Formats: sequence, structure tokens, C-alpha cells
Amino acid sequence: MSTEARLPDARASIRRFLEMKRQGRPIVAMTAYDVLFARLLEEAGVDLILVGDSLGKVVLGYDSTIPVTLDEMIHHARAVKRGAPDTVVVLDMPFMSYQASVEDAVRNAGRALKEAGVEAVKLEGGHERTCEAIRTLVSVGIPVMGHIGLTPQSAHALGGYRVQGGADGEADRIRAGAHALQDAGAFSMVLDLLPAPLSKEISGSLTVPTVGIGSGPGCDGQVLVLYDALGLNPGFKSKVRKRFANLHDSALEGVRTYAREVREGAYPDPDPSSEGS
Ligand code: KIV
Repeated sequence: MSTEARLPDARASIRRFLEMKRQGRPIVAMTAYDVLFARLLEEAGVDLILVGDSLGKVVLGYDSTIPVTLDEMIHHARAVKRGAPDTVVVLDMPFMSYQASVEDAVRNAGRALKEAGVEAVKLEGGHERTCEAIRTLVSVGIPVMGHIGLTPQSAHALGGYRVQGGADGEADRIRAGAHALQDAGAFSMVLDLLPAPLSKEISGSLTVPTVGIGSGPGCDGQVLVLYDALGLNPGFKSKVRKRFANLHDSALEGVRTYAREVREGAYPDPDPSSEGS
């Protein structure tokens, strides 16, 4: 386990996020979907790993997050937790795993903790129905992260993937949602694609930390979708979400070199006994 950028008591503890906000220390969050990247994120000292339902788009090849199932989320979250035992791992509850009833929310979030071993779940939306589910989950001991602004599971209702908070009354609805989530007991919340001044204002008015994506520097932390941030997805383009590496090009180069060497007879080595196993 890396000690880089960790508090001394940095076991996977939700409470440290409140402490980080109080101390003005930015929370570093990133998504992961498998054991090797989870291990890498833990080694890099990332504070929170989100097994996002972005899984559907970046790993499973769906057009949106809507088709993702709880079984798929649990399958991937188990691998992530095995790779990052000492980091807080949050499972993103997929579409229709919590919206229909509070009973669904409790049963399904319970499955996430029992079967995937994650520390918390994330629910989208700041309206009363979500808050009711969050209050109940928190009351039975399941920590919850909220998610407001662009909520991809409601993209059809929101008019697509666009910056939120600009239309009439939208900013007020988002402000109210943020406070309702905090009052319901969410330990933190994602602010997704909000104008920077609005996310700064909301972050300053809450006691729980906000984690922004495409929402400017005024949040208490930042989260990025791993494959987009590392440049594994050549189709990804964003003005507000930075790419920090170009793994697509290095992987493509590696695979092309392998293919060429096989075709030319340069690989494998004629004397394979030179390798240990
Ligand atoms: O599913 C996801 O990856 C997310 C992030 C965009 C926050 O919810």
C-alpha cells in the first residue's frame, strides 16, 4: 500500500472526507472498473475510487448508462475492491436499482455492500424521492454519496448531456437539491457539469464535501472517468475534463509492434528457455 498523499489513518474510512474538507485538502477521486487499474489508483494515493455506471459506456460498449445492471456493477466492483482494499470504493447504483421504491434501494444497496465489499453507494438526483431513499440507507448504516447537476441516468429528461444550471430556475433547483442531499445524510456529492461559480457557491454553503466533474475548481475535490482521463478512449473530447495521458496511442503502438513481429517471425525468441517460466 502506498502512503503517498494519505492521512496517517488512511484505512478506507468515509469520515476522513469531512476532515479533508475542514482542512481544505482536495479530495482526489477517479473511476475504476477492474483489479489492475484499482491497484494502480491505490498505489497513486487516490482518495476515493468510484465504480461508476460509466462502466456501461466505457467498458461494456452501451450507448448510455441506462442498460447497466446491478449484477454488472457488483461484478466489476468486486474486482476493484480486490485491487484497492485500503481505499474507499463507492458503487454507483444503476438505473432502476433504487428509483422504484425505498425497499429496492435498501435491498440493492445492501447487495452492493455485502457482495462487492464496497464502503458506500452513489445515487443520482436531489429530489425528495432520492432523499427519502438516502435517509433510509443512512439509517441502516449504508453511507451514500449524492450526484446532482448532469445526472446521466436522467439525460433524456434533462435534454441530453449539457451544462446544467443555466436555464430558468435550474440553479435554484440544483442549490435546493444539494442541501436536501446533505440534510438526508449524504457524506459527499458529485457536482456534474455545473457552471464554476454555481459549484463554488454550493460547495461553500455545504458542510459535506463536493466532488466536481467538469464543474470548475471551486469544488472540494475532483473526479474523472479513468479511461477518458488516461486517453484510452479516442472518441472522448471535452473542454472541461482534461486528458492526462495517451494510453490509446501507446497501446496501439504496442499491439501493432507485436503483430508485426509475429508476422515477420521476429517474435517469439527462438530460445524461449531464456525466460524463467
Ligand atoms: O458513472 C460515473 O463515472 C460517474 C462520474 C461521472 C461521476 O458518475
